[in-house]
Amino acid sequence: MTRHILVTGANGTVGREVARSLARLRQTVPMEVLVGLRSDLATLPEGVTPRRFDFRDEASMAAAFEGVDAFFFMTPLIEDQLALSRRALDIALAAGVTQVVRLSSRSAEWDFESELRAWHREIDADVAARARRYTILRPCSFMQNFLTHQAEGIRAHGRVALPIGEARLPYIDARDIADVAAAAFHEPDVHHGRTYVLTGPAALDMHAVAAAFGAARGAPVRYVAVDPDKAAAGMRASAMPAWLVDSALRVHERTRAGLEAGTTLDVERVLGRPARSIHDYARDHAALLREA
Ligand SMILES: NC(=O)c1ccc[n+]([C@@H]2O[C@H](COP(=O)([O-])OP(=O)(O)OC[C@H]3O[C@@H](n4cnc5c(N)ncnc54)[C@H](OP(=O)(O)O)[C@@H]3O)[C@@H](O)[C@H]2O)c1
Repeated sequence: MTRHILVTGANGTVGREVARSLARLRQTVPMEVLVGLRSDLATLPEGVTPRRFDFRDEASMAAAFEGVDAFFFMTPLIEDQLALSRRALDIALAAGVTQVVRLSSRSAEWDFESELRAWHREIDADVAARARRYTILRPCSFMQNFLTHQAEGIRAHGRVALPIGEARLPYIDARDIADVAAAAFHEPDVHHGRTYVLTGPAALDMHAVAAAFGAARGAPVRYVAVDPDKAAAGMRASAMPAWLVDSALRVHERTRAGLEAGTTLDVERVLGRPARSIHDYARDHAALLREA
């Protein structure tokens, strides 16, 4: 039986990789891969079908879920994500979706003070209570954050800057999150009811991360430890909403306290191979780390 899988956030860091992983899987497993897009996507993986999907437009969601039996459920970083996610799940289930693979966050496991983590926990619980089959993915910070937020610093100044002192983090490659999601879609019964906490293979300090980027680009990259108070003041003075600033500051605070350094073997257990390292990530993105 051909499965019909809809990927939300397919223009974003993880969703884009999920679409790619499913497009590969589709070469051997009968499935239609649909990607939900709010706006036009420049490049789609081959064999993937776009559908308009906006969490703020119920008609678009109803049309996007037509004929779909499984969906990759990411929530964009918006303030009303809880209500919008509940509504998206209502519409998905009413359309006949029987499997949900949900992108959550590792911090939802233990950070009970951040609003964003609480939203993640509530959406996860809603999925677990209502979807016939579900898998929850709780990744730590993404390797991709460096290119999303620090590309200019790396390329132009050979620098990564973060307010986390000498702390260590086991950054995960979003491609591994995507491969785990694809495995869950491939074998829904095997992965049903499971919550996977996804990390990279090792917790590294930022000097080691910077060194990996430097080696890949063939020019030195150094780590600059930003003063936490200055970073907080800068974020609070920026256009970022307060709940998002709070979330970022909590991660930095917990990281400095050494609370985000733990690793898991969930990627390896699901995929039968180790998680990609920061060296793998840096090597595969070397061109983007070099000056334009
Ligand atoms: N970054 C991390 O280190 C990290 C770690 C753990 C968990 N997470 C979680 O990962 C999630 C974010 O995933 P990501 O980094 O892959 O996302 P992302 O790169 O920020 O992309 C967000 C996606 O959401 C889409 N979007 C925004 N508003 C939408 C709407 N109203 N309707 C439909 N789509 C909409 C965007 O579409 P457009 O392209 O059209 O704007 C984009 O494709 C969050 O829940 C976050 O808490 C992140």
